[in-house]
Amino acid sequence: MTIDKKFVEQFINITTKAALASFYLVGKKDKNSADKAAVDSMRKQLNNINMKGQIVIGEGELDEAPMLFIGEKLGTNEGPEFDIAVDPLEGTNFAANNLPGALSVIAIAEKNKLFKAPETYMEKISSKAKEKNVVDLDYSIKKNIYNLSEYLDKKPENLTACILDRPRHNKIIEELKKLNVNIKFISDGDVSGALLVTEDKYNVDIFLGIGGGPEGVLAATALDAFECSFQGRFLFESETEKKRAKQMGINDLTKKYELNEIVTGDSIFCATGITPGDLVSGIYIDGSEFTSETLVTHKDSGIKKVIKLKQKI
Ligand code: FBP
Repeated sequence: MTIDKKFVEQFINITTKAALASFYLVGKKDKNSADKAAVDSMRKQLNNINMKGQIVIGEGELDEAPMLFIGEKLGTNEGPEFDIAVDPLEGTNFAANNLPGALSVIAIAEKNKLFKAPETYMEKISSKAKEKNVVDLDYSIKKNIYNLSEYLDKKPENLTACILDRPRHNKIIEELKKLNVNIKFISDGDVSGALLVTEDKYNVDIFLGIGGGPEGVLAATALDAFECSFQGRFLFESETEKKRAKQMGINDLTKKYELNEIVTGDSIFCATGITPGDLVSGIYIDGSEFTSETLVTHKDSGIKKVIKLKQKI
């Protein structure tokens, strides 16, 4: 079974509308309002789609998130069954401060084919190398860089690694510096960071480090369509987080997940720019029209491109 191509356009419309809704709150120093605008829009639009959809990655539990909560059913209840992962506003700091990189993101897979990730940190690695045993979460930084260098036929000093600029990454950063690898630091937004390995034009060969688990699953969906590699391993900070993960069906808390365990089968991924960023430009309003850019992938039909749309507000 695959996801009908007709849904691609419908999901592009979901993130496009959510991005526009959030755009009006860009630069207002109000992360929650910018997020809420995107959430409200996404929920309303998703309910118009002829599907039996269920949120597997959303804004949290029912008690903490009244909308797009994990388990929430969406759609007209007619049509195929989908697992839905959403990050209506990825990069809340970017939107609040009118900085580059805010996105509205969604990933769709067939029912039970998308990993139900808890809201914890995840150790992640993605690269251009689809083959196994080139880069691996269990390898040292040195081994990963040397392997990738050989695989891409590029000297370590010509490789670029992307990583979230966080003190928790100091050891990795020191290692990369010792190996003379160029570093692209990102201050937030590691869905986009992980996807910079997908095309040579971004000049990033490997993404690594610790970020949000849900963001890891979203990025993995697009990386699968681009035939890039991804591995993730959850990191739990408290007993409550561990308990919650077990309730969600994760028994081995230290397991390293391969891409094909995170998303199995067909998928659609859409990320629309709210503010301009590395992957897509932001919303641009001109009178009664607006322009948007969406990075879209559909594994089955091989779609992986940026769609630019101009439409009436
Ligand atoms: P928000 O959009 O929820 O603010 O997340 C932004 C983000 O940078 C993610 O892209 C990333 O996975 C996570 O936060 C990193 O978390 P932290 O800021 O705690 O290091």
